[in-house]
Amino acid sequence: MKRILLLLALIPATLAAKQQGLQITPQPREVQMGKGSFNARGAGFNYSAGLEERSVTAIARLADDISAATGKMSSVAIAAVVKPDAQASDLKGIYFLEDKSLPEENYRIEIARKGVKVTASGHNGFFYAVQTLRQMLPAGVYKGKGGGGWRLPCCTITDGPRFAYRGMHLDPARHFWSVEETKKYLDVMAMYKLNRFHWHLTDDQGWRIEIKSRPELTEKGAFRSGTQKGFDFGSSDGVRYGGYYTREQIKEVVEYAWERGITVIPEVDLPGHMLGALASYPNLGCTGGPYEVWTRWGVSKDVLCAGSEETFAFLKDVLDELCELFPSEYIHIGGDECPKDRWKECPRCQARADELALVSDEKGTREQKLQNYVTARIQRYLAGKGRRIIGWDEILEGDLQPGATIMSWRGTRGGIEAAKRGFDAIMAPNTYCYFDYAQSADTDKEPASIIRARKERAVTLEKIYGYEPLEGLPEEARGHILGVQANLWTEYISTPEHLEYMLLPRLLALSEVQWCPAEKRDFARFHEALTEHQEEVLELLGYNFRRE
Ligand code: ACM
Ligand code: ZN
Repeated sequence: MKRILLLLALIPATLAAKQQGLQITPQPREVQMGKGSFNARGAGFNYSAGLEERSVTAIARLADDISAATGKMSSVAIAAVVKPDAQASDLKGIYFLEDKSLPEENYRIEIARKGVKVTASGHNGFFYAVQTLRQMLPAGVYKGKGGGGWRLPCCTITDGPRFAYRGMHLDPARHFWSVEETKKYLDVMAMYKLNRFHWHLTDDQGWRIEIKSRPELTEKGAFRSGTQKGFDFGSSDGVRYGGYYTREQIKEVVEYAWERGITVIPEVDLPGHMLGALASYPNLGCTGGPYEVWTRWGVSKDVLCAGSEETFAFLKDVLDELCELFPSEYIHIGGDECPKDRWKECPRCQARADELALVSDEKGTREQKLQNYVTARIQRYLAGKGRRIIGWDEILEGDLQPGATIMSWRGTRGGIEAAKRGFDAIMAPNTYCYFDYAQSADTDKEPASIIRARKERAVTLEKIYGYEPLEGLPEEARGHILGVQANLWTEYISTPEHLEYMLLPRLLALSEVQWCPAEKRDFARFHEALTEHQEEVLELLGYNFRRE
């Protein structure tokens, strides 16, 4: 007996945590294990009267799922007044209490034998505490399914994110994703504490957002006459393809995300990647068209005419409605891959460049500076509406006005340069964060991906997990890195099963890069939580994912 006790005493804290079911992803900042456990079956849920309705909804959902899974009802009610210094051991049941001293998005969970005390200062903190509690229970809780023990080990969890911006992107332009599919995407983001959804709503292959004042965008621009077959750029399957989100659907997605602590950042990619718009309104292009919604992938030379006032009138119409639909402070204006071929030949673009006295010099070419002019005009217009711009790292070339935020996609270089020059940046380097790249160098065994057979470009689970966003940045520039995002472009992805496969489980690794301090990251620990708990959760929820 003595020997057994001695052995038990030697079990390291992490192992003890694991045995008690703490396989939480992303790993909380601090966990102190105690003795004993709390029985969640039939536990009453109580919340401060001041909590937001969306927080109460999340709490009630957990109570409902525990009730369904255990067959014993958990009540949900406004808490009687609780002394601010009450300990979990003073309480009976689970309490969600406001503590305004906690930083935004942080939370604390104290679990004693009879009582649980959860504190946070706002919605995201409470929402994340609920996600953590859910992850401490058997996987069946996600589906209200029985089985397993319903005891929460006594412990204290103090948690909060490393980065304020924890993003995931989705491209519905190349292939369209229904509202239901988008919600399922948001669900898994929310489970792992991501808080920004970057929605790439327009591109050469389709315009996907209803704009009342410009109806042809969705009548024409949302549909293409076919889609290229595989990697054969000259081919088309000849099958009409398209779709768009109505204003009501957009509002529904924004609201759904907001309930889950996620801000939707819409992207209207400009001035390139605009064939969806040009096919609808050919007067917006330098040549006047005709243009077609593209049936192939790649970068089109046809872009918005920078010399025409009609372009700016069009963009104002679009941005006005975009701002009505999306409360996000940030609006993504794209700015990537804008060939300057047409601008060099266009009399209106050249007249504009003359008027602005643009010249090529060491800072950039005359046409790059014309793009700077477009960016600055849009930035100013949005600033008048209280909004800020995010742009792909190309907008750094030439001149950029203060206040813009850079999204670094061509590796980490753009983000590093931006931060050094005093701009905020979001790191989304293709080298680590492009989820349209294969998950394994064994590309033959993987579904189609944009890297084809270029094995060295694979973004494996371990690769994304090992990404350190502040690497290469001097101390004084580090504060400009707002966070990290992964991008999921969908040229070669046309089914929800394939989409989910590309997303998962890499999203879980991404969540630890976004949430955990560098010194807390440990691939072996992460991997164990994935294979021993999280995979079961994903399976129960009906996600398709790459198995480890
Ligand atoms: C991009 O991948 N063109 C931003
Ligand atoms: Zn032009």
